[in-house]
Amino acid sequence: MPPSDLPALRNALLAWYDANARALPWRVGPERHAAGERADPYRVWLSEVMLQQTTVPHATPYFLAFTARWPTVADLATAEDGEVMAAWAGLGYYARARNLLACARAVAGGHGGVFPETESGLRALPGLGPYTAAAVAAIAFDRPSVVVDGNVERVTARLFALQSPLPAARPELRRLAGEIASAERPGDWAQATMDLGATVCRPRQPLCGLCPVAAWCRGRAGGAPEQLPRKAARAERPRRFGVAYVALKGGDIALVRRSAQGLLGGMLGLPTSAWRDTPFAAAEAAADAPAKAVWRSVGEVEHVFTHFALTLEVLRAEPGADLADAVWTPAAQAAASLPTVFRKALEAGLGRLA
Ligand code: ADE
Repeated sequence: MPPSDLPALRNALLAWYDANARALPWRVGPERHAAGERADPYRVWLSEVMLQQTTVPHATPYFLAFTARWPTVADLATAEDGEVMAAWAGLGYYARARNLLACARAVAGGHGGVFPETESGLRALPGLGPYTAAAVAAIAFDRPSVVVDGNVERVTARLFALQSPLPAARPELRRLAGEIASAERPGDWAQATMDLGATVCRPRQPLCGLCPVAAWCRGRAGGAPEQLPRKAARAERPRRFGVAYVALKGGDIALVRRSAQGLLGGMLGLPTSAWRDTPFAAAEAAADAPAKAVWRSVGEVEHVFTHFALTLEVLRAEPGADLADAVWTPAAQAAASLPTVFRKALEAGLGRLA
């Protein structure tokens, strides 16, 4: 793109944002922002952590629940670990909830409850990665950070018709995203590119007729913008197998706290067998159960994690004997505080299909 095109492209996207910015509960919209209002860094940070790897519609109710319960970073810092993990249940990537708490406690303890304003200051906080540091610096503090999420990658790859595939193309996309970014309105620019990617420059069926920067878009000129960014073929996910046990006592379900390390670490879960590469025979499934009882199979549930797909056979029983380390929890409360994989297994175990 000739550098002389950049001012017009920036103006076009920012004018589109001024007219079309999504109203989001963590956002100070362009009008209020222009009038001098600043976004609350706590809300920006929390929303960005939640929005990594999930969508605005999925994250929004969690954001509202968190900020109703913990309105400031100091409030969150004093929360119990288990409460935060339960409130996070369903958002996935549970290490992020633990990092969230570590970061809140560092801000409340070491920084007097005030977030650092620079990318490097933010980056020094525990569990706060390069993406989040750039996003908070730009959106909350209007620092000229280059914010590159999946939406920005897609918009940039299409604008420049970059043909090299992800993930190898990432450094080049970052360089190009930095080239076009507005230094005058960094926070609005970051949010404008995200909104454009989410609502117009969509992964499939982009709405090029509505795009404020279509005139500069080489991907559109090439005729197949939906094919960008290209992606290197990914190895198929391996499949693993396990058994989950729904143990009932009255209306209560036996849950266990998973160890802090590893997948779903620190979360409550159903008791399970080890997870392995081969299915379990019926006798094996019963032998691994957390208590002696008449265990009945109620079917299987599937869940896809980042690095593997899991088939969990679900067994159900009412063991007379107690289970070691069980946290007996009313069924409705259990469903709300479990990671999605266990919520599916619990619903299968209780007879409702996940
Ligand atoms: N996706 C991730 N962060 C976002 C933000 N601040 N606004 C809109 N969409 C987003």
